[in-house]
Amino acid sequence: MAAHFAIRALPPEVVERIAAGEVIERPASVVKELIENSLDAQASAISVEIRDGGLSLIRVSDDGSGMSRADVPLAVERFATSKVHTLADLDAIHTLGFRGEALSSIATVARLEILTRTRDELEGTRLRTEGRHQVEPAASPVGTSVTVHDLFYNTPARRKFLKSPLREAELVRETVVRYSLAYPAVAFRLLVGGRESYVAPPATPLERIGVALGREVADEMVEVAWEAADLRVWGYVSRPTLGRRDRRSQFFFINGRPVRSGLLAVMLERPYAGRLPPERRPLAVLYTRLDPHLVDVNVHPRKEEVRLSQERSVYGAVARAVEEALAPYPHLEPGVPGLAWPFGDVPAEPGALREPGAGYAVGGLEPLGQLHNTYVVARSGEGLLVVDQHAAHEQVLFERLLGAEGQRPLDPPLRVQLTTREAELLEPFLGLLADLGLEIEPFGGSTFLLRSLPEPLVAQEPRALLEALLDELPECRKLDPEAARERLAMKAACTAAVKAGDVLTMEEMRALLGDLQAAWSPATCPHGRPAFVLLTVEELERRFMRR
Ligand SMILES: Nc1ncnc2c1ncn2[C@@H]1O[C@H](COP(=O)(O)OP(=O)(O)OP(=O)(O)O)[C@@H](O)[C@H]1O
Ligand SMILES: [Mg+2]
Repeated sequence: MAAHFAIRALPPEVVERIAAGEVIERPASVVKELIENSLDAQASAISVEIRDGGLSLIRVSDDGSGMSRADVPLAVERFATSKVHTLADLDAIHTLGFRGEALSSIATVARLEILTRTRDELEGTRLRTEGRHQVEPAASPVGTSVTVHDLFYNTPARRKFLKSPLREAELVRETVVRYSLAYPAVAFRLLVGGRESYVAPPATPLERIGVALGREVADEMVEVAWEAADLRVWGYVSRPTLGRRDRRSQFFFINGRPVRSGLLAVMLERPYAGRLPPERRPLAVLYTRLDPHLVDVNVHPRKEEVRLSQERSVYGAVARAVEEALAPYPHLEPGVPGLAWPFGDVPAEPGALREPGAGYAVGGLEPLGQLHNTYVVARSGEGLLVVDQHAAHEQVLFERLLGAEGQRPLDPPLRVQLTTREAELLEPFLGLLADLGLEIEPFGGSTFLLRSLPEPLVAQEPRALLEALLDELPECRKLDPEAARERLAMKAACTAAVKAGDVLTMEEMRALLGDLQAAWSPATCPHGRPAFVLLTVEELERRFMRR
């Protein structure tokens, strides 16, 4: 790497496609951007220093490629980047940065100082942004050190939204720890108020987990290693003997980028159902690598979420990879107090229902009839299967909705008149609902046009569906978009699923059993209630005292 970085302004058509936005919300967001820059510059050691929760000082130093004197001033220009040049580059992003926006955004809300040198230069460069930019020669090791003084000095309103310096420092620490887990081979160090708060020497992923999350955690991890043609999932997950009350120790990285995703968490947790008490959450450090063409990181201004064009296969892969890693750990016995069974599981092969704990698959389902208009009773090679028709259908619809199977236009569109409050509530969710297949268009005032229904719900009464979703929106406001999407899918699935008491034809029963067999996680509904119970032939023989 050398002085050739060639930072260039992005052409307007590329700028337009970038999900720009306020990237700098708090000290931790500055630290995140600067660490990403260091990683993109191939640093092998990154040191972070903060004072007063990052408000008076943030400094991130690396031993990466550095910037040439000619390039430094460009680095702080808006939409100037060395990483992406054309529209085609945006479709396959290999670096963490691509908008050419971070440094310029930081420079607008703080006093910025960059000290840098490339390997080819004898003398380094210092740039200060205070009013106009000043560039001068300066002594510097190879690499880059970016210092951010007096964050938000010119935007006092922003400061008001910050938490205490102690809490902001904690958020910075979480950020450093997260990236250190993503890049175990890179050394990380964090100084808080002059005191060493975190030191992570270059390590293997497992050693890094020990440093970041504790030795006791590292000792309780199981390795995950799973590969398909164009997709790899690896890392570590906790043995079922270890669990936490929250998801804070679940880390997901897609192509080296930390991502937050409620869906990935759900997929991780499925194989634990029945192995870990339901109120406990597994710990995980999971890396996924796939063709960058299939990942769109350009959807979230802070790049914390990615959109996957192969969503279904990625999420399925995570569940399978974890299931495989957990195979040696038995399910808890049915009937353990406080646990309902059967628990969520992933079919070993498509078309086979595996009843957790039983250790074999239930295939060749043949519906016998309905019981109480609530349960579908089916015969299988292994025994008698009793399916809760609502729970099973709900799970099938839920998975299909999250799988984004597309939508079908409503012709004519349905005009709905909402209250002002409902309209306000709905407005910010239009994008999310469109993702699920419900295209809703503002039609002046608080009137809206419902233009399409999700493919799995085309048989639904549109108005009832919309009302059910509206009910859910106040809760969704408190959630991150991925969790909100999951919640809305759950509500839609629940509303649309057949109910207990609905009479089903043989054909409908057969279809439901087929769909259930094709589900990833057929054993439970999205709320975790069992979707079916298997009465095995062995069980019957025991009951009838034949053995
Ligand atoms: N630590 C660093 N080492 C070497 N070059 C750097 C470093 N930090 C920034 N640069 C250079 O400055 C440019 C601008 O950085 P900036 O973070 O503003 O944008 P970006 O990383 O290209 O995109 P994004 O806004 O998505 O982060 C980078 O493209 C890179 O060439
Ligand atoms: Mg950057």
